[in-house]
Amino acid sequence: MEHFLTDNSESLREKIVLLDFGGQYSMLIARRVREAGVYCELLPFDTPWEKIKEYEPAGIILSGSPASVYQDNAPRCDRAIYDGGVPILGICYGMHLLTGDLGGEVKRGSRSEFGRTSFNIEEIEPLFKDASFRDQSFCNGWMSHQDEVLKAPPGFNILARTENDTMAAIGDHNRKIYGLQFHPEVFHTPGGSNVLKNFLYEVCGCSQTWTPRSFIKDAVAKIRQVVGEREKVVCALSGGVDSSVVAFLLDKALADRAVFIFVDHGLLRFDEAEEVVRLYCEKLQGQFIHVDARERFLRRLAGGTDPEEKRRIIGNEFIGVFKENALSMGDIVYLAQGTIYPDVIESGSAYGSAVIKSHHNVGGLPEELGFELIEPLRELFKDEVRLVGAELGLPDSILKRQPFPGPGLAVRIIGAVSAEKLALLQKADAIFRDEVYQAGLAEELWQYFAVLTDVNVVGVKGDDRHYGPVIALRAVVSEDAMTADWARLSHDLLEKASIRITGEIPEVARVVYDVTSKPPGTIEWE
Ligand code: XMP
Repeated sequence: MEHFLTDNSESLREKIVLLDFGGQYSMLIARRVREAGVYCELLPFDTPWEKIKEYEPAGIILSGSPASVYQDNAPRCDRAIYDGGVPILGICYGMHLLTGDLGGEVKRGSRSEFGRTSFNIEEIEPLFKDASFRDQSFCNGWMSHQDEVLKAPPGFNILARTENDTMAAIGDHNRKIYGLQFHPEVFHTPGGSNVLKNFLYEVCGCSQTWTPRSFIKDAVAKIRQVVGEREKVVCALSGGVDSSVVAFLLDKALADRAVFIFVDHGLLRFDEAEEVVRLYCEKLQGQFIHVDARERFLRRLAGGTDPEEKRRIIGNEFIGVFKENALSMGDIVYLAQGTIYPDVIESGSAYGSAVIKSHHNVGGLPEELGFELIEPLRELFKDEVRLVGAELGLPDSILKRQPFPGPGLAVRIIGAVSAEKLALLQKADAIFRDEVYQAGLAEELWQYFAVLTDVNVVGVKGDDRHYGPVIALRAVVSEDAMTADWARLSHDLLEKASIRITGEIPEVARVVYDVTSKPPGTIEWE
């Protein structure tokens, strides 16, 4: 199987290779590097130098790690990287590792400097070259470590020391190898992103080549190169950000040799299917196929109450519908998908990294379909996808859409799904979303939605006893959906939503707000 865009040999873009030792901030380092306009590829810590070399990196960063260099089976990198002539920056554990590997000494720290620590800069060039550092050679850094460098390796200078005399930064200017005891990538390290930028621009000589525009240019050229002059591509279009950006890229690259299939399973939010059809019928005239499979999905789901079973049915059914339509088109060779970078990073490849919960994504089609896969967004984080989408001219209604689970509202209707329940939930959800939007909170929240519980309760409507379902409202803040905090929405906002939901939807007897974070809860209810 071809993995589009993982073959970097053709690209002229500058790249930084980040070796991931399982540090909690590895992903964040990659983000910061990319925000600085330089492409960063995260690789497992034990990637052989021969493989790393293929990326032609302008620099290598060694991440932090929960491990100590002294423990058994401490994760190590291929030592050949030190002789490759490529600049290296070791962060925390990365610094300890390179210190030991290059003949210095590391000892287990007598104290742990978790949190904010001040340090004195002894050499400004090149890492601390920045006005805010030059004026005051005294900075705060975010440290979380136990081990510390006791003796820098031969050829290294001490660039900064903490108040407790720990080496905060060391460097060998000749070999361009540097180590930082503190975490420049975390928000709490003022000037930290400047230290990273100095490494990228001053030490590695990178310029800012990673921009949405350069990405689009590259991606379009590569799609054309992979697909050739005659072949056709089919793409499953859900109307979410990722598949929409893929659609716009394919359309730009191939025009009518790209075909888009939108399977309306009837489990989308209020008016969403209509919006997708409206936008794409106009934009992709003649290439857009709208499959109305609402009845088919409802029929298959009828009566089923087990969450996993519901997910399985939807996934299988989606593949069935897609397959029938795609295969009936005959001469299609490629299948395009909106896989993004966090989906690609191999879970468990980094030392001690937690196994990431894998979701069944309705849009995630198996390669057994017999098509070659094209995944133009494999290199991008979600917010980068949004930037690319904005550059491509996607409307805000799609760009700013919140993440939405593949199985749709079926996992927000507790128990059996029916057309009536779907209509009711769509109304409640639209009201809540509208209130959040009116309150100006839409962009602050990771997700906010309504859930139709399977609990009926007693209430009073007009002068009469009313017996009806409970709607639960859920709103969370999160960085990446791996953990999430319930959103502290104002009582006013909750009250407005509650009054409107119980008032505008006759069936609903009660509205509750979910105050469970993740963990122990999950974001979705099923
Ligand atoms: P949980 O409920 O596990 O959800 O905390 C984390 C994030 O994943 C979304 N989600 C899914 N996305 N297919 C998807 O594409 C799925 O089956 C699925 N289930 C949950 C959820 O909305 C949240 O953003």
